Amino acid sequence: MKINVIHDTALKQATPCLVVGVTADQLATPLLQKLDKALNGAFTRAVSTLEFSGNAQQSLLLHGTHQMAAERVLLIGLGKEKEITRETLRKAGATAINQLQQRRLTDFSWVPAISPLHGLEVEAMTSAWIEGLLLADYRFEQYRSPDPKRAPSLQQLTVLAERKKDQPTIEAAIRRAENICRGVTLARDLVNQPGNVKSPIFLAEQAQAIAAEVGLECTVLDRSSLEKEGCGALLGVAQGSIREPRLIVLQYQGTGDERPIALVGKGVVFDSGGISLKPGENMDQMKMDMAGGATVLGTMLAAALLKLPVNLVGIVPAVENMPSGSAIRPGDILTSMSGRTIEVLNTDAEGRLILADALTYAKRFNPREVIDIATLTGACIIALGHHAAAVLGNSNGLLRQLQKSGESSGERCWQLPLWDEYSEQLKSEVADLKNIGGRPAGTITAAAFLQHFAKDYRWAHLDIAGTAWQEKGSGYRPAGGTGFGVRLLIEHLTQNLD
Ligand code: BES
Ligand code: MN
Ligand code: ZN
Repeated sequence: MKINVIHDTALKQATPCLVVGVTADQLATPLLQKLDKALNGAFTRAVSTLEFSGNAQQSLLLHGTHQMAAERVLLIGLGKEKEITRETLRKAGATAINQLQQRRLTDFSWVPAISPLHGLEVEAMTSAWIEGLLLADYRFEQYRSPDPKRAPSLQQLTVLAERKKDQPTIEAAIRRAENICRGVTLARDLVNQPGNVKSPIFLAEQAQAIAAEVGLECTVLDRSSLEKEGCGALLGVAQGSIREPRLIVLQYQGTGDERPIALVGKGVVFDSGGISLKPGENMDQMKMDMAGGATVLGTMLAAALLKLPVNLVGIVPAVENMPSGSAIRPGDILTSMSGRTIEVLNTDAEGRLILADALTYAKRFNPREVIDIATLTGACIIALGHHAAAVLGNSNGLLRQLQKSGESSGERCWQLPLWDEYSEQLKSEVADLKNIGGRPAGTITAAAFLQHFAKDYRWAHLDIAGTAWQEKGSGYRPAGGTGFGVRLLIEHLTQNLD
């Protein structure tokens, strides 16, 4: 969807559809009065018959008259002013897209609000709408034959600045949202790619392509480099697959020589469970087990496009977890890059093994903070469902920042405790650690495992097992990969540039 901003008034705008947000307790703004008059009172009538009241997620389509240039007016309810958040506006954007698609409209105009709501600036409001519009318009159709029965995707959005002086603010907000959504779209695309296409090498090539486009430094370690580095935990997981493992490293220099923030993303391109094989039902969904890695790549892309004044390192350990004659067995002992030995009691707890080496590898960049993101435990879905990621770590300040960024980005995370007592569950009789801690508190014991490899820096772990993928679409998140984490991390990187 192409977006351009022009200075024009709503009634003069010739468009198949003019989209306007309506606040439930502000049904008589100058813009609405002007539109109502041109519509011969159709809006007032819809309000008085209670057909439309401006409640959130409500919409009303009215046909234009000769007193206006637009063919239709689409009103989107936002609810009461005091209750409007950025998430309300993202959802409003999604409602608009759904309505437009149902009517097979591909071009439309939108009139953004030009005065701040309580605590929400025009720029933030505009970005939220555009995020909702762009993310709801996402589709993954690379492998589908064209079908005229499917609604066409949107082509052109014209944004109206009714006052010339608002144009630069609106323009900046739109470009910001576009850059963030490119990152989200990349992450969704990578997650939606099938396992037969996305090998670790495929992921590395994608990273190299992004690096070339936006000027990042990209280093890719292959099996022999990983052997030299002593990445025994990562290589242990990879040894059952005929696909070669990779460790992908992207570096973004957005400011002087400050210590970087490192983002580490789990990149298991397919998780069969290995010898501890998963049940067949829904195993196809395990192509999404590289969603953390996809989020790191998407965040690096968005950060570079936004030119964020921060230094970043993105690290993605990429492997496939398969059962075979060469696969690791339950009971095997691996030596991690840190030197710590790990008794592998379940080969399906593979994410923490590859992350252990990636977290150790991160140390060489002398990071001021490390955030890892991973579809790590089914237990996370039991604890929090599909509405929030779990966040755990060793710095309360960082955990609070992430939770706050989660609220404002609409990608929420909720803290679980990481008390010492949980580590008891990981003690091994024959090695330094075992890779599973039993049924109780599975998300916490996974994080407790990672903590052993993240001792030397401020660290947070995001478990996105419940949020990276959804079977059914809803709001601005279509079915499949959600790209969860890109918006959360960009918000964190934007808000905490101390
Ligand atoms: N990739 C899975 C976790 C997962 C499950 C992600 C469902 C998304 C949806 C992970 O590698 C895994 O298999 N974890 C095991 C750990 C267990 C063996 C300790 C799990 O959660 O069952
Ligand atoms: Mn697994
Ligand atoms: Zn996994």
